[in-house]
Amino acid sequence: MTPSKGLQQAMNDQIRKEFESAYIYLSMAAWMEDQNLPGFAAWLRLQAREESTHAMKIFDHLIDRGCRVELQPLAGPPTDFKSSLHIFQEVKKHEEKVTKSINDLYGLALDDRDYASQVFIQWFITEQVEEEKNSSQVLESVRRVGDNQAALVMLDRELGSRTSADE
Ligand code: FEO
Repeated sequence: MTPSKGLQQAMNDQIRKEFESAYIYLSMAAWMEDQNLPGFAAWLRLQAREESTHAMKIFDHLIDRGCRVELQPLAGPPTDFKSSLHIFQEVKKHEEKVTKSINDLYGLALDDRDYASQVFIQWFITEQVEEEKNSSQVLESVRRVGDNQAALVMLDRELGSRTSADE
């Protein structure tokens, strides 16, 4: 069974959103590099890579189901940020937006009684729980560090040791 036209469209939209997420996190990583915070930058680079992986999972799923992948133009990411705190507030907000989008996708698969798509999208639902948890944890750490430069350097080191759970 092929996904409905509406669901195919929504999955193509989700590919764009995942690549846009990668682009946003990469832009944040570039800002962190400029601030001499390589650990924060490494965390965000890894996050960007995971987002590309998410996009490619949907890409491959559409191909496997005999559907057309139609890549869309990506919105330009923000390039100017106020602080590390600002960045992680934005990461958290962004992940909440992605969760809503994934939930909407699942809703469409439910409406269509498209069980193969439901099973596929469930992976993303679980992943979003992890994504929201991780971004909340970093946000909380950045909040606690506040203006303490020594603590900021320590947190930068800690974040730099992050490894991907996806690969
Ligand atoms: Fe692909 Fe961070 O959600």
